Formats: sequence, structure tokens, C-alpha cells
Amino acid sequence: MSANVEMVERAAAMVRGKIGGDIGTALILGSGLGGLADRIEDPISIPYRAIPGFPPANVPGHAGRFVAGTLGARRVIVAAGRYHLYEGHTLDTVAMPTRVLHACGVRTLFVSNAAGGINRMMRAGDLMIIEDHINLMSRTPLAGPSRADETRFPDMSAPYDPALIRALRDSALECGIPVTSGVYAALIGPGYETPAEVRMLETLGADAVGMSTVPEVLTARALGMRVAGVSCITNVAAGMSNTPLSHAEVLDTTARVAATFERLVTEFVQRVVPA
Ligand code: HPA
Repeated sequence: MSANVEMVERAAAMVRGKIGGDIGTALILGSGLGGLADRIEDPISIPYRAIPGFPPANVPGHAGRFVAGTLGARRVIVAAGRYHLYEGHTLDTVAMPTRVLHACGVRTLFVSNAAGGINRMMRAGDLMIIEDHINLMSRTPLAGPSRADETRFPDMSAPYDPALIRALRDSALECGIPVTSGVYAALIGPGYETPAEVRMLETLGADAVGMSTVPEVLTARALGMRVAGVSCITNVAAGMSNTPLSHAEVLDTTARVAATFERLVTEFVQRVVPA
């Protein structure tokens, strides 16, 4: 067995021991969106630094912990904080939380992120249901020796589950929350894009751009999990406004949108997770 497979098993055994039994649904929360973890009732919190094989997460706005409990009376486990390639982590590390969640019984994965808006209709503060993605990281956590529980050549023709996309749309309608939908392009970062790169991404068909999520979604699809995702558009992409981009702006926008995001996700969880 490869060292990484063993590490996933050791981490999962630890997490399973703490949460006491399998959980079917997980939510990975992006930059500034981790506040949802504080809404979890009867929480069991497991900091990443306490989990064998998990390095500390160290981006401002990323707490770095699992929180298991209930949201809208449904059992979920939240990953508040993720590992990014731009931090210098390996793809094995970036994919680790997803693999551990799968080993804890998770079969439905909700992912979220902060992203720059490329589509000219988008404004800071918009929520975008992710319909598809473009992997421009030139890397994938699926490369390497094949793993017993992962499909070698996962079908990516519907990476974001159509029924879950519908559930997100219905949730937004029910809550009166305006949402858009579109294609998320992932680059490694950590520099924001140049205006020329943003024009390229627009030509390629991307509606939003960010530095995460795609590695987790590839991993989840190889593991047979159903995936849904939402991008919080925190800024219009480089060159589309006169203001320079900053992580502070990203966190300002997520703080402004957090309550709406949390309502949407809670409604979604109530729709897709059996009581
Ligand atoms: N580009 C890349 N990642 C991002 C952006 C952006 O404009 N905003 C938030 N995350």
C-alpha cells in the first residue's frame, strides 16, 4: 500500500473515532466562507493539526478544521479550510481531506470557493452555482499509482451532479436568493490573473476564476461521490474594473455575503440530505 493510502486510512480512523459513525454529506468551505462551521449544532470540532498527516492550513480566512454535527437538522461534516497548491502543498495533501471524508462515509460533497467574476454580468457579491469547470492547473491529484477505491479514468461529463444543481436552484428560489450559474476555471495562483489572462479565460468559456476546488472535485468524482458547488464572486476579475485585487477585498465580500450563503446552503442540505 502506498504511504499516502496508509495516511488517508490513519487520518480517517482518527476522524471516524471522534465523530462516531459514518456521515453521508460534507461541505468544503472556501476563503471567508468558513463561518458556516459556527452554525453547526452539537458540533464535534477536529482541528487539522490534530489529524495525522494533515499539515496546518495557513491562509487568512481558512480555519483548518472538520466540524461534524447537524445543520438544519441534517447530519453533515464541514471542512472549514482547505489545502491549496499555491501554499506549496502536494496534490496528495490537497486531496487528503476529500479522501478522508470519503473514508468517513461521505458520498455527497458540496464545495465552495471565492472567485473572480469573468462573465460581464457578474458583480462582487454574486453567488454562482458551478455547472462545470476547466482545469488550468495542469496537474491532477489522480495521477500516480491507481488506488483500489478510485476509478482510474473517471467520467467527467457531468462533474457537478445535475440533480444537485437543480436542488441548488430550487433552494435559491425558495429562499429568494438571486443566483447565477457558470463555469469555474482553476489556476494555481497565488498571483491574481493579468488582464490578458482574464481575456483568455473569457474566450475559453470561463465565467469565474479561482485557485482551488478542481483538485477536490476530480478526487471526489474518482471516488464516485456526487458533487455540487457554489462560487462566491468576491470581485470582478483583473482588468475589468479600475481597482487592484486584494485578498482583503475577497474577505470583505465573503463577510458581506456570508449570511446569504449560509441560508442557501442550509436550505440545500435540507433538500438533499434525508432527515
Ligand atoms: N482570481 C483568482 N482567484 C480569486 C479571485 C480572482 O479574481 N477572487 C477570489 N479568488
